[in-house]
Amino acid sequence: MTRPIGIHDLAVATTGYVLALDDIAAAAGVDPAKYRIGLGQEQMSVPGPDEDIVTLACAAAAQIIGRHGADRIRTLFLATESGVDQSKSAGVFVHRLLGLPDACRVVELKQACYSATAALQAAADMVARRPDEQVLVIASDIARYDIGSPAEATQGAGAVAILVAADPSIARLEDRVGVFTSDVDDFWRPNDRLTALVDGKASVSAYLDGMTRAWDDYRARGGVPVTQIDRFCHHQPFTKMAEKAHRRLSEHTGVALDPTLITGSAAYNRRIGNSYTASLYFALASLLDHDDELAGRRIGMFSYGSGSVSEFFTLVVSDGYRARTRGESTRGMLAARRPVDPPRYRALRAAGASVRSDLDVSIAPESPGSFHFIGITAGARQYTRR
Ligand code: HMG
Repeated sequence: MTRPIGIHDLAVATTGYVLALDDIAAAAGVDPAKYRIGLGQEQMSVPGPDEDIVTLACAAAAQIIGRHGADRIRTLFLATESGVDQSKSAGVFVHRLLGLPDACRVVELKQACYSATAALQAAADMVARRPDEQVLVIASDIARYDIGSPAEATQGAGAVAILVAADPSIARLEDRVGVFTSDVDDFWRPNDRLTALVDGKASVSAYLDGMTRAWDDYRARGGVPVTQIDRFCHHQPFTKMAEKAHRRLSEHTGVALDPTLITGSAAYNRRIGNSYTASLYFALASLLDHDDELAGRRIGMFSYGSGSVSEFFTLVVSDGYRARTRGESTRGMLAARRPVDPPRYRALRAAGASVRSDLDVSIAPESPGSFHFIGITAGARQYTRR
């Protein structure tokens, strides 16, 4: 009999600072209800000078290594669209900082917000071939848009680490998936820019189009009818987008889907903002941490990455998943973020943007976690664990 393969553990991390969207609304003369209700967002995580996608990835994955050790991890996939180097995988820094075995392959994947899903599927296939091995998948991103742009309120940052293994404690991945790719200029970030370029309205319709096309492919490939899916996590660039996706899926399938089937998935992203590749998996973490009735239930997952690639797939939650989740510590981590006001947020943004590879710089650790970016020496990024 084939062994089930899927998510054996899942842990999240975000930055040490947080900005209340009410504060940027007040500073910009915008009605705060536009962000709270119109976008479904309350806060955004803001990185300190010593935080980047490497430190966030380490903070998430260290929790998994702490629980399971690293002996069986033979592959690390790091999914990001805010990478720190055009050549070296950010995962190689993570590999050293976490003390993963030398006998391990490490690679970075990119396709906007989608690539963590490609990593998850590839990881499951690897474990299917060698069920004694585990694959660590980390999604880590910092979302940056131009200051003062409509998209600014949807920024955020965070990482989710997922341990993929046979006989998983949290959820097994089902085989049927639906995929869809379309070359569209809805959101992108050229190599010479720190902030994304985006056509906001076009991105919303590209996302919804990708969702229905991925769903159609899922069904054509033998996926279950929508009535056999018990909860949904849709990619959440802002949580209202998941509501739009859910309504569109309902219209598209002709089945009145209960809006509460997505309720549990929004709690973390409302307070973190868009964490790009990590966002869908923050939605999953939120659902697992806020819903006690998931054992044996099927979760529909919609992954979207601008540009664009879409995938619809399903998970079935394991018995006993509740004992493995980390809701209390995640809520504690969110509550412990230090508030910044709009001027401080802008100063942090400017400081981050001033780091260049041709200038040596030393950065003092100030964020609360164990992993810190400490500057540039001879063009190379330096990190420490303390
Ligand atoms: P905008 O133009 O400022 O907002 O930008 P709006 O005027 O469209 O208003 C937004 C919503 O707030 C509307 O609701 C308004 O009615 C409502 P909707 O019609 O959508 O239901 N509203 C109010 N509600 C209550 N009280 C009020 C009020 N005023 C207005 N007073 C936009 C919004 C999303 C376009 C912008 O934030 C943006 O460009 N965001 C970035 C792009 C994005 O997130 N796109 C989502 C799909 S693409 C995607 O998910 C991929 C991505 O994650 C990247 C990747 O893949 O790598 C982004």
